[in-house]
Amino acid sequence: MTTPNPSVTYANYLQLDELLSLQQPRAEGPEHDELLFIVIHQVYELWFKELLHELDRVAALLRGDEPHRVQHTLKRILTILKVLVAQLDILETMTPLEFLSFRSRLEAASGFQSDQFRQIEFVLGAKRESAIARFAASSRARAALERRYREPTLWDAFLQYLAREGYPVPAAHLTRDVTALITPSPEIQDILVDAYRQDAKTQGICERLVDLDEGFAEWRYRHVRMVERTIGVKPGTGGSSGAAYLRTTLGQNMFPDLWEIRSRL
Ligand code: HEM
Repeated sequence: MTTPNPSVTYANYLQLDELLSLQQPRAEGPEHDELLFIVIHQVYELWFKELLHELDRVAALLRGDEPHRVQHTLKRILTILKVLVAQLDILETMTPLEFLSFRSRLEAASGFQSDQFRQIEFVLGAKRESAIARFAASSRARAALERRYREPTLWDAFLQYLAREGYPVPAAHLTRDVTALITPSPEIQDILVDAYRQDAKTQGICERLVDLDEGFAEWRYRHVRMVERTIGVKPGTGGSSGAAYLRTTLGQNMFPDLWEIRSRL
């Protein structure tokens, strides 16, 4: 049994003083809703950190042949995603005028510059080299994105798993350029149809991956709706066209083969 260390407290274990000093509204008013805006974004970033931690675990479990635990971890990721979507409800209690009261203080800052969001996209296969260059050379964000860009995606880890399970995954897929976008493949679709018909374990993992794809899409959809109701068609602070740009990101499936097979099952 370990002896309790009296110097460990709730406050110092969680670094509470530091944490609670990190919300610094920029408006001089001060504008009441800016604190909510900051807290929500900080909470998102913490959840993004946790999501990346869990996504790394899923890839490791797939590599380590622990499929039952893969499902468990994917379930946790999906539960977090649901919380991320639900959190938008809180921000939607802020009216357009309340947001406008401090929006100019954001200057060019935007969720567009969230490197952790881009990291999640990269892990899921939506990689764009152009996204990396927006982050300052030698910054934490740039180094993390460069690493994620070169790393195999979750889909690559899944293809390796299928091969180890004895499915005839073509070698070209197992050695593909992991920085390239994931494109639909008839050979992989044949394998997946087969797995859905006779392999409950693999089917279970596939369904959780579809949940993940859908959960991410749900966040994108809810975010753009929130943007539309808060700023209409105004351009974004990050320099994009705003809602029009965000709408172009809807409807992209991260794991296209898992969607293609639906009509064949
Ligand atoms: C009133 C609230 C919000 C408004 C008006 C808003 C607005 C926008 C706009 C207009 C964009 C397009 C890029 C640009 O700025 O030009 C954008 C992108 C983005 N926002 Fe928000 N946003 C809000 C809240 C949030 C929250 C709470 C998060 C959580 C982290 C978030 C995360 C993102 C991300 C990750 C992107 C990049 C999306 C992509 O490129 O696919 N936003 N936002």
